[in-house]
Parts: sequence; structure tokens; C-alpha cells
Amino acid sequence: MRNFLSTIDWSREQLDGLLSLAMDLKQDPVQERLKGKSIALMFLNPSMRTRTSFDLGMQQLGGIAIVLQPGKDAWGVEFDPGAVMEGDAEEHIAEVAGVLSRYCDLIGLRAFPQFKDWSNDRQDKVIRSLAQHASVPVINMETIVHPCQELALMMTLKERFGDVQNRKFVLTWTWHPRPLNTAVANSALLIASKFGMDVTLLCPEEAYRLDSQFESAATRFSDQAGGSFQVSHDIEEAYSGADMVYAKSWGALPYYGRPDEEWELRKNYRHFMVTEDKMALTDNGLFSHCLPLRRNVKASDGVMDSEYCVVLDEAENRLHVQKAVMLNLLGL
Ligand code: CP
Repeated sequence: MRNFLSTIDWSREQLDGLLSLAMDLKQDPVQERLKGKSIALMFLNPSMRTRTSFDLGMQQLGGIAIVLQPGKDAWGVEFDPGAVMEGDAEEHIAEVAGVLSRYCDLIGLRAFPQFKDWSNDRQDKVIRSLAQHASVPVINMETIVHPCQELALMMTLKERFGDVQNRKFVLTWTWHPRPLNTAVANSALLIASKFGMDVTLLCPEEAYRLDSQFESAATRFSDQAGGSFQVSHDIEEAYSGADMVYAKSWGALPYYGRPDEEWELRKNYRHFMVTEDKMALTDNGLFSHCLPLRRNVKASDGVMDSEYCVVLDEAENRLHVQKAVMLNLLGL
């Protein structure tokens, strides 16, 4: 049985297969290929796009999606093995995964990290615990990576560029008033490097480097695919000649769980917001972001309303790639 927890363990060829299927599904969106099938979508954190696109995608393929919000409209869940459950959680993931596996053919989970201890969160234990106890395939709807967003990003790039090999992809840290999850940034590194792009990680200073497991994977994938990976703290150099500017804000990992201390760094970097002036340095580059996005904080109105902004394409493509993932995992 295959899960979709991270693209790290999916080959370029397998990912290409998913993207090719997604392109076909985009042309022919309503089918009956998942008639009688169901997916449980467990959200431990808010969502607009992920929830809508999975629910709608399942319906468009003839199946049913059940949305559960543990701790809100479903019992709170404990994920730690061996926990003495005297806290708020009423049941353990062992039973939740077992029961949902009896009811449904697939299980999706969104479980953001706890933002207390990165050495723990970086192990992605919550979704791995679900996958361990489930007897049906599990899909990651965002933990410390966001593989569905990765596929939507790469589909959008392929639609615009065709071959993405050695296109300059700039992943830029951007301003936000508080430290956010690194998941989408980690994922952008993984997919752009796996597809042979020339990847620049632009961040304000060394404290904003991404976890070594993702940076080293990006180096390895770049070597394998004939692309490149570099880190820059120079805005002008990074934007210069870019084919794609992909923005995300995230917290500085050395200050993980200490937002007040992190603020002393963060407050200096409002100028990392994506603006038309910066985009003018690119080679007629595209701009995207996973959304949600605070306008005139992460990117200016001018960027968001420009011809080169492809955020809506990427959001739409979530629908198509996730349908491809569900079909693939069920072997249909
Ligand atoms: N990009 C994304 O996952 O959006 P939501 O948080 O709204 O699901």
C-alpha cells in the first residue's frame, strides 16, 4: 500500500505520471472513476483551498468526502504512542485510524507542527502515526511539507513553461508579522530541485535557512536532475533573471517556539515583501504563492493583480492534482 506523505520518496517519473494524469483530468473533470469510494479528510488546522478542492474533487469523480475537525466536530485525538490520556483527547489515533480505515478508502490529514520544539516537529510524527495505524492510503494535506501544493505548483510551471529544466526558480522568504510553518517552502525546494530547475533560496539571513533535511534533499535532487541549488541573502541578485518567483514566509528555525525573540530579527525584514520593482528585475518572470496571502504584507496589490501572477492557476490545479493522487493511490 502506498501513501502520499512526502514527495521525497516519489521518483521524478512517478511524479510526472501524477502530473500527466492531472492534466488529463483538467480536460475531463467529471467522471465516475471513484464511484462508491470515500475519503475522510481530517483537519487539525483551518483550510479553505485544501478542504474545498479535496471534497469537490472526490465528488467530481463520483465519490464521497467526509470532513472531520477533531476537537471541534469530532473527538480530540491523541497521537503519542504510550500516552496516558488524561488531557483533552478522548481517543487515540490507533482507534481513529482503524475505524476510518473500515469506513473509508483513503484518509487525508492536515496537522501543522506544534511550534514548540523543532527537533520533535521535524520528524513529522503525527502523520506517520496515522499512516502506521491506517490500513488504507494516507494523504498529507500539510504537515511540515505540503506535497499536494508541490504538485499544483509544478503543474502550473509546466503549463506556462513546458520544460522547466534549468529555469531559474527563486523561493523568496517574504514578510509576515508572525512566524509561519516552513511546509510550503520545504516543499517548493523539493519539487523545483527534483524537476531540474536552477533553484535559489532567498532569505534575509542564515537564521531563515530551511531544515537541513530539505536543503540537503534539494542539493541531491539538483545533482541528479542537472539543476542547481544555492542560497542567497541578496534580493537584487536573486530576483535578477528569474523565471519564477515563489514567495512564502516562515519562522526562523533557531528561534522556533520563541516568537518574541524571533521578532527582533523579523522586524528588520519588511522590505522582503514582493513588489513590482523587484519583479521588474526578473526575466519576465511569473509570481506565485500557495495562498492565503495578506496583500501589501507578503506581496503588493500590483503584483497580485498583474498578468504574471499565477496564484489562481496554482490554486485551481490543487483540484486536478489531488484527483490524480487519489486515483493513483487506489490503483484506478
Ligand atoms: N494553500 C492551502 O493549502 O490553502 P488552505 O490552507 O486554504 O487549504
